[in-house]
Amino acid sequence: PVVSVLELGGVKVNREDVVRDDPTNNVPDTIFSKLGMQLHRRDQHPLGILKNAIYEYFDANYSNKFNKLDDLCPIVSVKENFDDVLVPEDHVSRSYNDTYYIDPQTVLRCHTSAHQAELLRRGYTHFLVTGDVYRRDSIDSTHYPVFHQMEGFRVFVPEEWEPSGMDATSFAAADLKKCLEGLACHLFGAVEMRWVDTYFPFTNPSFELEIYFQEKWLEVLGCGVTEQEILKRNGQPNNVAWAFGLGLERLAMVLFDIPDIRLFWSSDERFTSQFSKGQLGVKFKPFSKFPPCYKDMSFWINESFTENNLCEVVRSVAGDLVEEVRLIDNFTNKKGMTSHCYRIAYRSMERSLTDDEINELQWKVRELVQSKLNVVMR
Ligand code: PHE
Repeated sequence: PVVSVLELGGVKVNREDVVRDDPTNNVPDTIFSKLGMQLHRRDQHPLGILKNAIYEYFDANYSNKFNKLDDLCPIVSVKENFDDVLVPEDHVSRSYNDTYYIDPQTVLRCHTSAHQAELLRRGYTHFLVTGDVYRRDSIDSTHYPVFHQMEGFRVFVPEEWEPSGMDATSFAAADLKKCLEGLACHLFGAVEMRWVDTYFPFTNPSFELEIYFQEKWLEVLGCGVTEQEILKRNGQPNNVAWAFGLGLERLAMVLFDIPDIRLFWSSDERFTSQFSKGQLGVKFKPFSKFPPCYKDMSFWINESFTENNLCEVVRSVAGDLVEEVRLIDNFTNKKGMTSHCYRIAYRSMERSLTDDEINELQWKVRELVQSKLNVVMR
């Protein structure tokens, strides 16, 4: 009973074109049902509230110069998602295990960086792109196959960096860090933060910003000075730019004290009624601590087994009732056969689950795991 035609950023999309039973497609119905939800465009939703607070910072500090786009279609080409941002041909993120493919040339974007090149070609020099992004992954309280990112991008012309006497790259890197430190202060107040050097194919140098929160260093965004090749290919050969991509759920979990990423998708009034437009950082009061229920499952794996595939099977049966899938035992016997034991945690955010209900889910999971993943139960 899912809606079967969607309009996404002005593009009409039929379910049958996105979810197909053929080997070049790995998009399940559970993912199709998330397309078009647009949580980041709801002003009373924590993700929308956070997006608006970031807009506020940019509007105030850059006199409304940043163009804001939050309705670009999440269905993009492999070229846009990977080639245009210089992701190497053999990079793991291109694999069917990590990315949702609609067909060999079309994916659900795995980052908002997929829109950089086109916006540059269309002449944008300052922009913020917010949207839902899709990644195949394992299951725990901070990972969900759909989440939201905001991409920031700023182009400088030579007249902007020349007076500083700095080289263009150092100038852009310094400006980027200043901009993002200011944003972190705007969102969190005075916080301890640190820069960590990292690698992205589309920026050089590249950094991650971490903030110290609840006794831990938390990675909140990736950024860097845009590779010159991207500017060159898209009509800006003499300019320099910076870019960042931040995960909205990560930041919102910290700002609003939201303990589990599934809650963002809840339509339970006890969740939704706790947030209101413009109210950043109102602490969420948990309305339930329903007990989790654990079920273990052991099987002999084969060469094609992956944890992401297992998690997708579990989610196809249990939906948001699954909280975590964790490998608790892993051994190889003398014959070279490898056994995995997974512990599945079932828990509803909204109600108590009955034993019968969970047993039924677990049976269906076992059956599907055997038939879809060709593993042998022990
Ligand atoms: N696209 C990167 C990610 O999803 C984040 C990023 C954006 C990094 C822009 C650098 C510049 O992890």
